[in-house]
Amino acid sequence: MLKNKKILLGITGGIAAYKSAELCRLLVKAGAHVQVVMTHSAQAFITPLTFQALTHKPVYTQVLDGELESGMGHIDLARWADFILIAPASAHCVAQLAHGLVPDLLTTLCLVTTAPIYLAPAMNQQMWQHEATQENIAKLVTRGVKILGPGVGEQACGEFGPGRMLEPAEIIQGLMPPEIHHDMHFVITAGPTQEPIDPVRYISNRSSGKMGFALAEVLAEQGYPVSLIHGPVSLSVPKNLTRAIQITTAQEMYESVHTVLASLENQHKKIIFISVAAVSDFKVKSPSLEKRKKSVELPSLLTLECEPNPDVLASVSSKLRGRPDYCIGFALETAEMSSALAYAEKKLAQKNLDMIILNQLQADIAFEQDNNAVTVLFKHTGKQKPIYLSKAPKTQIAKQLIKLIFNDINVTKTENDYAKSET
Ligand code: CTP
Repeated sequence: MLKNKKILLGITGGIAAYKSAELCRLLVKAGAHVQVVMTHSAQAFITPLTFQALTHKPVYTQVLDGELESGMGHIDLARWADFILIAPASAHCVAQLAHGLVPDLLTTLCLVTTAPIYLAPAMNQQMWQHEATQENIAKLVTRGVKILGPGVGEQACGEFGPGRMLEPAEIIQGLMPPEIHHDMHFVITAGPTQEPIDPVRYISNRSSGKMGFALAEVLAEQGYPVSLIHGPVSLSVPKNLTRAIQITTAQEMYESVHTVLASLENQHKKIIFISVAAVSDFKVKSPSLEKRKKSVELPSLLTLECEPNPDVLASVSSKLRGRPDYCIGFALETAEMSSALAYAEKKLAQKNLDMIILNQLQADIAFEQDNNAVTVLFKHTGKQKPIYLSKAPKTQIAKQLIKLIFNDINVTKTENDYAKSET
């Protein structure tokens, strides 16, 4: 896919610049024509000579570089590129691009080019989470700039959180156009469930169904068959779904999911199960058939006797026969990042999942909101390499998640390809 692509690789100042040498090597190995441009501060971390040796081309560092201007010149260089990839992209670089500032060659090229721009941010986690950086990123995303990562984890500064530059192989995966897999069927659960107390009252939660519906909508738009099983929501069902089934209780969701999966068993499709629903863990043991009367309950304390609901996701992902090919869960957590990651990793293992999407409940994201920010963990890398998707509209997050799902499904194949190309 990268063979003969003309890539302008920008390096800005950050400790992650040491990984850019490996990134550059992999791009060259994949058959791309790579031209490296470095900022002044990047050269404090790694020398131009390293990239010159890897690409067999001079590295450009200044706008009015004698060698560059006597050759193709900086305007032609911007036109030459099929795309620009900046890795690492520092907080400073992100801010300059968001505001259209052009203090150096790299930012000038970004303003001149009409080609796609990819950024792999790398910075301290506080800097990444700062409102200013998040606003700059949101601005760039609206302009069509593609943001790869960052990852979440231990940082060079000793802190823990989102801001780590993705590994070179992950960045390369992010550059690949999405492959269409015609042999797949997606089964998605979404929204809340309602557990009756009596004919007029129920136990439920604040899930709006927006994230699950966004995933179903984007997948159906991309041409994939989708079965959506959802609780009571006030959203319109996306167009072109294979089926949409509305249920009320967790027990109904459980039965509906298993019926749909059984009906797909002989279709020889890869089944991807995405469990986005906020399923009630408990139901009232004996819901009243009549409306419960206040006069009867009061003045004593009202106690509801509850019993557990089935875990829909675990019942699907732990099946010995007929388990979907890839199972994805969501983990809604209120704890701070490192505990939330530990809970999510535990659910990933306990529920036998391939991928889990951690949603940390905050005022302006997750439940009921149009935006979301998530952290993704994979079975094959666990807590070591989480990927953080910063705050964006749920449709945008859905597109990024779909890309990550396909990347992960292909990852073993890709890793083998790299291993082969090494020899
Ligand atoms: N889930 C499910 N059925 C349940 C409970 C949860 O299918 N009865 C699924 C959710 O759709 C989600 C994942 O399991 O994909 C994790 O749900 P979450 O509510 O975060 O966790 P729980 O398993 O309920 O654990 P806890 O309440 O202790 O956090």
